[in-house]
Amino acid sequence: MPTTITSAAPPVDIASLAQHIGQSVTLRGWVYHLRSSGKVRFLVLRDGSGMAQGVLIKGRLPEDDFQEFERLTLESSLRLEGLVRAEPRAPGGYELEVTRVIPVQIAPEYPISPKEHGVAFLMDRRHLWLRSPRQQAILRIRDEVCRACRDFFHDRGFVLIDTPILTPTACEGTTSLFETNYLDRGKAYLSQSGQLYLEAAAMALGRVYCFGPTFRAEKSKTRRHLTEFWMVEAEAAFYTLDDIMELAEALVRFVVLRVLTRQEPHLQLLERDTAPLAEVAGPFPRLSYAQALEELRRHGKDLAWGEDLGGDEETVISQLFPRPVLVHRYPKEAKAFYMEPDPEDSRLALCVDMLAPEGYGEIVGGSQRLNDLEALLARIREHHLPQEPLEWYLDLRRYGSVPHSGFGMGIERLVAWICGLHHVRETIPFPRLIDRIYP
Ligand code: 4AD
Ligand code: MG
Repeated sequence: MPTTITSAAPPVDIASLAQHIGQSVTLRGWVYHLRSSGKVRFLVLRDGSGMAQGVLIKGRLPEDDFQEFERLTLESSLRLEGLVRAEPRAPGGYELEVTRVIPVQIAPEYPISPKEHGVAFLMDRRHLWLRSPRQQAILRIRDEVCRACRDFFHDRGFVLIDTPILTPTACEGTTSLFETNYLDRGKAYLSQSGQLYLEAAAMALGRVYCFGPTFRAEKSKTRRHLTEFWMVEAEAAFYTLDDIMELAEALVRFVVLRVLTRQEPHLQLLERDTAPLAEVAGPFPRLSYAQALEELRRHGKDLAWGEDLGGDEETVISQLFPRPVLVHRYPKEAKAFYMEPDPEDSRLALCVDMLAPEGYGEIVGGSQRLNDLEALLARIREHHLPQEPLEWYLDLRRYGSVPHSGFGMGIERLVAWICGLHHVRETIPFPRLIDRIYP
């Protein structure tokens, strides 16, 4: 009787099957795998929360439903009703003895087959590739990372400030600006960093952070660069370089340990060796720029004093230590306009980059900010930045200027390291790269 058959099996997530052993439930999802063996049909269903095997035994469900199995294809969507059983040999550990098969949509041949595909092929089908177990695991770890960042700052009394995306000026140099037309007002630029606005908010609220999309028209085609990425940035009044080095270290430790405790199954799915991640429990080594040059020289890489560390140099330094390393006090000419000079050596800036181990390179950049009006004006001129659109920023040095510091951490670079991925492109749902804006 159809009325009794369709009744009342409540919809549940695959992840919650343990709580439904012996009950009739409805699973809703997509076909991941199909297999026949004699009078038994096996169907692995995925629903976003996990995977579960459904078993169809001829005679134990309506013949029409048993026949529906023959129409199913990979990624067809459907509802499955059945009885939940513990089955240690089944993927996920539970099995559904299927009593009803209700297709929602039968999919044509799925373009991503289980065979190996190249990255370009998969990137063109990123909207479908996201369904694969690996990509799901990465996105869940990313979600954990983002939540951990928010918890970290919230627990320490930092206030979330949403900084603007459309801005009248550059923050991190004029060469990587995305330009757009702002109605009748001329040019505007997509934000390269929320920092300048965060500095204003820090003078209002003390300790603040922002977390948003960041845009860089990077000409660099490397495994570390996106044109659109997400950055979490902190800024605090009266903080010094030492204070933000400690803060950045505590943040990275907190986030990585959080992922280790809460996302172990997904790290395992990615076959990530977690030993290097567990190293974050120890103190992060600190190197001055001068010491970093010395290390580079000892490892056969000569860098002229004054040059910024490039990807290759960062790789060398980051392989020297088992955990993230803080490189501080770079020559100020290699860095942005807003940094406070080192009182011990005015050629240097009070700044820091954190390099992740295992060759991952820079994940955090920060500094103490110039807080003297005249010195800041001089730097703005040296960098050929227009003063007028920065007048509001200069006001922060006119009305109760104080020493203050902050940093920014790139979410994709951190996730790439945590997941052990070669390239940042898989750490963001829809990557924007120098040569990609589809899908
Ligand atoms: O070192 P950056 O450029 O620092 C700033 O933007 C400062 N205004 C932050 C601050 O002090 N509030 O960028 C910070 C971090 C880098 O360490 C890196 O992790 C990430 O942002 N990042 C990128 N990630 C992906 N693709 C890119 N093109 C990136 N550029 C920077
Ligand atoms: Mg940087």
